[in-house]
This record gives sequence, structure tokens and C-alpha cells, in this order.
Amino acid sequence: MSMPVHTAIESAIAALRATFGSRFEGADTEQSLRDEKAKILGKKGELTAILKQMGAAPPETRRVIGELANVLKGEVEAAFEQRLAAIGRREREAELNATPFDLTLPGRALARAGHAHPISIARDEIVEVLESLGFAVHDGPEVELEENNFTKLGFPPDHPATDMQDSFWTTDGTVLRTHTSNIQVRAMTTHKPPFGFIAPGVVYRRDDDATHSPMFHQVECFLVDEHVTLSHLKGVLAEFADRFFGAGTPIRLRPSYFPFVEPGAEVDVGCPFCRRADGSRTGCGVCKRTGWIEILGCGMIHPVVFEHCGIDPERWTGFAFGMGVERVAVVRYGIPDMRLLFENDPRFLAQF
Ligand code: PHE
Repeated sequence: MSMPVHTAIESAIAALRATFGSRFEGADTEQSLRDEKAKILGKKGELTAILKQMGAAPPETRRVIGELANVLKGEVEAAFEQRLAAIGRREREAELNATPFDLTLPGRALARAGHAHPISIARDEIVEVLESLGFAVHDGPEVELEENNFTKLGFPPDHPATDMQDSFWTTDGTVLRTHTSNIQVRAMTTHKPPFGFIAPGVVYRRDDDATHSPMFHQVECFLVDEHVTLSHLKGVLAEFADRFFGAGTPIRLRPSYFPFVEPGAEVDVGCPFCRRADGSRTGCGVCKRTGWIEILGCGMIHPVVFEHCGIDPERWTGFAFGMGVERVAVVRYGIPDMRLLFENDPRFLAQF
């Protein structure tokens, strides 16, 4: 006759009780220990399977079986915790006894090195081209006297650009420069002509929309000598466009007004976004269907500026231009939206 169900359950519990200890001892990683525990107490575990047969046992035996099972469960759990702690201690000891690792060794995986931001890349290339044409870099402050940013450049006191709308004033008479033309004033008051300078730098205006950032970059370029004419300006601009944007890049000058130049102009380059192989341009969204993109303001330095800076306008003439670095970067690298330059998404930056 086969064994009664409750006796069979009891002996299965006893068998499990006799063996789980050595099974836990045999596990030497936390993972294998957890697996072993799951094999016993888990949903599909051995003890669970044993208890499922309880329904077939005589009711008066069930309490005893239940108690046995509970005791076993407690023992399994306690043994598990003990073994877990032992494994932890052993791993910790192994770590402490291991040859200390050398923190000064170079890493195995190549760290992904960063690189210059596209605005910096564009600025550096602009500077390089203009330096190759003979201009020297001249530096100056971003927090500037009203005098150098506006007054000496011939801005009338009520000029809208000096208004709170466009400028960030720090204290009365001190402003975050709104353009790099302050360097013209600084250079002219400290240097005797002839000279040719470029001034790359950050400028600030109270603008913030799809095409304007309150902080942006410009490169100023100016030349003062005897007999400097508009032709020299056009020549330098054409040469710049050729070297910076590629041979044959067309430019055009449109008459425009800046208080510190006369005549003054805005300069456009041919839109690269809709350019055909033969150089003609169809017009697109980026160039607003015109085929041209504005990149800078320029002109012949106004005699009044020379006078304010102690340079004799009867003897000296000069040209100046100031270009927007973000503008130029957008055109040069084919960036469809200027805002990408300020979002600093690594997926965008990694493309440069
Ligand atoms: N400073 C002008 C601007 O910020 C640009 C400019 C520079 C125009 C030099 C003429 C000459 O818009």
C-alpha cells in the first residue's frame, strides 16, 4: 500500500529540510544563491509544490503540515540571509585583498573628447581668413562705457539703439556692448594710423526671438590709412567671401544706415541653401526667396568718428565692417535654424 498523503508530504518537507543548507552553501554568488532560494520558496518552488498537495491530505493532519512548512520556510529564509551576508563579506574581503588598482592608468575605453563649439569654429575661421589678409586681433571689454559703444560712434543721444529696449545697462553710463564697434573707438584713441584690426567678441541686445538671441557674436574689422576707399572695402569683402565661403561666392552691397559710417551698406552673400551647380539660386525659405543672406554691416568710417578719437579726417580714411558670427556659421555650415547653435544638443554639436 502506498504511503498516506500527509506522511508523504511530511517526508518531502523533511527531505528538503535536510538538504537546503548544503545547497545554499554551494552557491557562491549572490545571484546563484537567490536562484536557489527561488527554487525552494518561489511560486514554482519545491516547498510551494509540496504544499499544493495538502488539499488531498486528511484535514486533521493539515495543521501539523502547515506548521512544519512554516518552520521550514523560516529556516530557509534565515539560512538565506546568513549565506547572503557571508557572500557579501567574502566579496568585500576579496576586494580589499586584491592588488590595489592604479587610478592613474589611462582608461581602456576612449573617452569621447569634446571639441570647439560651431560658433567658436566659425569665429576662429573668420579670424584666420582676416589675419591672412593682414589684420591683427584687438581685444576689448564686454562691459563698455556708453561713450565708446555709442557716443563717439556718432549715435545721437536719442538714438533708438541706446534705448532701454535694445541695450542692457549695468550702471548709468555703462552698458553691455551692443556691437564690437566699440573696438574701433578704443583702437583709434590708442593707436596712430595706419592700422588694420579685427575684433572678435560677444555682444548683447535686448532681443529674443526666432532669429535673435540676447547674446551673440560679432567680428569687427577696420582699416585706417591714407587713401582708403570703398574699393578696398569691397575688395576685402569679396576676398573674404571667396576664402571663407568658397571660391566664386557672390556678394552684394545694399545701401544702409549706421551712424558711424558714410556711406554705409549691408552685405549679403549668395544663399548656399538653394544654390544650383551653375551658381544661380532659386530662392528658398532660408533666404526668403531672394537668393541672398545678409551677413554684415559696413561702410567708410565717418569723419565724425575720427574727430571724436583724435584722428585727422582730412588725412586719414578708413573702412569698417562688423559681421554676425552666428549668421555666417548658419550660411557656412548649412544650419537650417540659428537656434540650434544655442540649444547645445550633443547630437547637433557632434556633427562639427
Ligand atoms: N556695428 C554694426 C552692427 O552691430 C555693424 C557695423 C560695423 C556696421 C561696422 C558698419 C560698420 O550692426
